[in-house]
Amino acid sequence: MSDDLIRARPPARNLAVGGNRGYDRLATVYSALEWAMFGGNLDRCRETFANRIVDTVNANARLLLCGGGTGRLLLRLATAKPESTITSLDFSHAMIAAQQRRCATLRNGQRITWQLADLRTWNAPSQAYDEIILPFVLDCFSPDELQVVLKTVASALAPEGRIWVLDFRHPVSASLFANMIAGIKLWLMHRFFRLSTSLPNQRLIDLPNLLTQTVGRPVFEQDHMAGLVWMSAYRSSSESRSQLVL
Ligand SMILES: C[S@@+](CC[C@H](N)C(=O)[O-])C[C@H]1O[C@@H](n2cnc3c(N)ncnc32)[C@H](O)[C@@H]1O
Repeated sequence: MSDDLIRARPPARNLAVGGNRGYDRLATVYSALEWAMFGGNLDRCRETFANRIVDTVNANARLLLCGGGTGRLLLRLATAKPESTITSLDFSHAMIAAQQRRCATLRNGQRITWQLADLRTWNAPSQAYDEIILPFVLDCFSPDELQVVLKTVASALAPEGRIWVLDFRHPVSASLFANMIAGIKLWLMHRFFRLSTSLPNQRLIDLPNLLTQTVGRPVFEQDHMAGLVWMSAYRSSSESRSQLVL
């Protein structure tokens, strides 16, 4: 798929063709499915994650949001950081259209650029973003794809920039019972995503370990939902950049 820049809020029907069919189909039911499985818990995690980002980053930071789904995080970031410029990259045409609808009333909507692109093949602009945000997207990739995606993301990060990750993990400190329930939920969720989106990832990857190995130690880390959801941030230093470029 070729990269496709979509400038602020054209009508959804005018978006260029492309996108991933599985996620395109999911876009309209995504929030309802999430609610059925997790209630409002994931959205509370997004809220906490967004607040942390908003409290940390500069007012005029250049943000890259990858795999923003139906746009709840995007709306929060754009509302709280009206001076920032935000690129929202997703490979699903329908997800981008949902984001545009959600952000349609924003006064600073022209500061958002939508980009239809696949992170696995994206031709990333070098050091173009101060903050790169990856919410529930890294778990869409196989270990091999993750190496490529992390390398791409690293190349787009400005010196002293940060990578923010929000994702699922196998709980580490929960009780046996909570662990079992979490395991069932993760299995069901992965099964569902594999069937509906042809997700190449067969199982949940140990993201915290993989990121520590490739990106370095997090500068911020927090568990939520009894350890089922985890958020973290990584700072790009010259040392970690040399690790990031795999
Ligand atoms: C599981 S959803 C998460 C959505 C949202 N971040 C959230 O918090 O609910 C994954 C998102 O990543 C996008 N995505 C998955 N694989 C992608 C890829 N290879 N390149 C770009 N976007 C991708 C999907 O279209 C979808 O919007």
